[in-house]
Amino acid sequence: MQKFKMRSPDMTQDNIAKIRELFPNCVTEAHSEVGEVTLRVDFDLLRQELSSVLVEGAQERYRLDWPGKRQALLTANAPIAKTLRPCREESVDFDTTKNLYIEGDNLDALKLLQESYLGKVKMIYIDPPYNTGNDFIYEDDFAEDIGEYFRKSNQKDGEGNRLVLNSEANGRFHSDWLTMMYSRIRLARNLLRDDGVIFISCDDHEIHNMRKICDEIFGEKSIISSSFVLSNPRGRQSDTYIATVHDSLLIYSKNINSLNVNGMLLTKEERSDFNLIDNDGEAYRLLGLRQRGAASKRSDRPDMYFPIYVCPITQAITLNKIEGWHEVFPKKSDGSDGRWMWGKEKCLKDHSLLVARLIERRNEYDIFVKDFLNKSGTERTRKHKSVWNSKGYNNQAGTQEVKAIFNADVMSFPKSKQLLIDICNMGSSKNDIILDFFSGSATTAHAVMQLNAEDGGNRRFIMVQLPELCDEKSEAFKAGYTTIAEIGKERIRRAGKKIKEDNPLTTQNLDTGFRVLKVDSSCMEDVYYTPDQIDQKQLSLFADNIKADRRDKPEDLLYQVLIDWGVELHLPIKPETIQGKKVFFVDENALAACFDSGINESFVQKLAKHKPLRAVFRDAGFASDAARINAEQIFKQLSPQTEVKVI
Ligand SMILES: C[S@@+](CC[C@H](N)C(=O)[O-])C[C@H]1O[C@@H](n2cnc3c(N)ncnc32)[C@H](O)[C@@H]1O
Repeated sequence: MQKFKMRSPDMTQDNIAKIRELFPNCVTEAHSEVGEVTLRVDFDLLRQELSSVLVEGAQERYRLDWPGKRQALLTANAPIAKTLRPCREESVDFDTTKNLYIEGDNLDALKLLQESYLGKVKMIYIDPPYNTGNDFIYEDDFAEDIGEYFRKSNQKDGEGNRLVLNSEANGRFHSDWLTMMYSRIRLARNLLRDDGVIFISCDDHEIHNMRKICDEIFGEKSIISSSFVLSNPRGRQSDTYIATVHDSLLIYSKNINSLNVNGMLLTKEERSDFNLIDNDGEAYRLLGLRQRGAASKRSDRPDMYFPIYVCPITQAITLNKIEGWHEVFPKKSDGSDGRWMWGKEKCLKDHSLLVARLIERRNEYDIFVKDFLNKSGTERTRKHKSVWNSKGYNNQAGTQEVKAIFNADVMSFPKSKQLLIDICNMGSSKNDIILDFFSGSATTAHAVMQLNAEDGGNRRFIMVQLPELCDEKSEAFKAGYTTIAEIGKERIRRAGKKIKEDNPLTTQNLDTGFRVLKVDSSCMEDVYYTPDQIDQKQLSLFADNIKADRRDKPEDLLYQVLIDWGVELHLPIKPETIQGKKVFFVDENALAACFDSGINESFVQKLAKHKPLRAVFRDAGFASDAARINAEQIFKQLSPQTEVKVI
């Protein structure tokens, strides 16, 4: 029976597969360092294929480089033997919710999500440490020489992992931050849908570097905007010369040709411009038909300079000359010849939208176009501008929002909820998945729930947050929160409850729950770390390949299987009892899992009749060797489409 590999995907092998697609002759089989035969790239051949465009050695080239970049690539590509362990006690509506809260290092989390969410996330928002000189950054296992630097200042998070103060005195101040961001953004890109988009908050400390690494990872043509968010309108008084009023917001597409983003809904003030009502009750405003601004002269488009005739009694409009009707030409305010916005053909086709009005101060007619508020029943939007300017985006609003939820200042510099609502509105539609892997106090989750409550959407969120310890002197610690992850989870609980209380009629089906999954070591004993590589003889040397503390935790095993099989982690799970054994049905029949012992033929027959697409058992769970061998045969007969595996 087939076994799981029980480790996150090896991205290097994925890259080799991509090279193979383009240059099949350059991928060959060769011995690895440990004597295994694996796919390898024949660089000599690849070099020949590309010989005229190679840059090699010390040759000058345009790129951003730093000590640790190569290591960051290796870090991103290397597989890990970890898992996500569900935590029911800390979750809300565990069985039914489609939202995830992942606690742990986001590098691990992004690796563990690679197969289940590859190309499925529509929008990512991140607000990483800005590298101000006071930020703790997570020390991946990449440093060539941690030594002195590491001893300078470090703290451990809830799991004993390393968070290091990245002060400007660190000789690798920018390099360490870049290394941390580069591997994570590379992994995040894989998760985006082809029409997906990533928003990255940043400030002047690293915006230039962030833009460079995003240009490299997404391609420089994929940038949508490097926008400013007016987050501190009074200006930062601690600045020496110019008081900073903004944060930066970088926006990149996965694929600019497939990108799909929404415009901004109009404000009340903007809607009030549409103050006329037509016969069908639709609100509209009038826009002049004469072209304004650039290319508005007659000589720019001579074919768009023609008379329009207006009836002096009814104000009807025609392009044909009628005696006694007023002849109207596009005249600029200085009396020179202008041009219409539309040509003759368009005027004839959309004749019903044209309106004539007598301009009394000039005692002459002008022509206008009806511009409706809503078009074909969909609400009108406008393009976002590169300066995001709204009272609601103020950083202070973010601080006040968190304070109102907790009655204490438990989070430094949370983003404002309104900013995240507008970002989610731009980057996602009603059924999309939204990921934030530096989630802090979970403002993004709050915004997703609020937006769903407002527009009836079913957007789902995935939050990732390190259990970073709260300083013992902080208000958060005094209020009883030992980690930032605890703050994030509690905010979602409280915010979800409040949104439902405030909107009882429209939020009955609103999903304010979340499944808590915690990054942890693999459920498998280290010797079984990659069970697909172990043969039967070796296997029989060990009584059980599952760690002792996980044997009685079937849900832990289930999640390890879901991750390995690339099944989405938010799908509904229904436990059932069949012949006294616990079986988990994931998304009805997407997967059936039984990790109990004593599995015999009659149980397998019963299970096979459910015809699941996938079935999984414990290798040591079969009553006998015969039962194990027969299980495969039983599925072949009763449910041939089922893929059967063991852990
Ligand atoms: C600037 S804060 C985000 C604030 C958030 N936007 C909000 O509104 O509350 C960055 C967060 O990323 C977290 N973080 C830093 N390194 C991380 C890592 N390697 N994995 C997961 N989270 C991390 C920090 O603990 C911090 O809470």
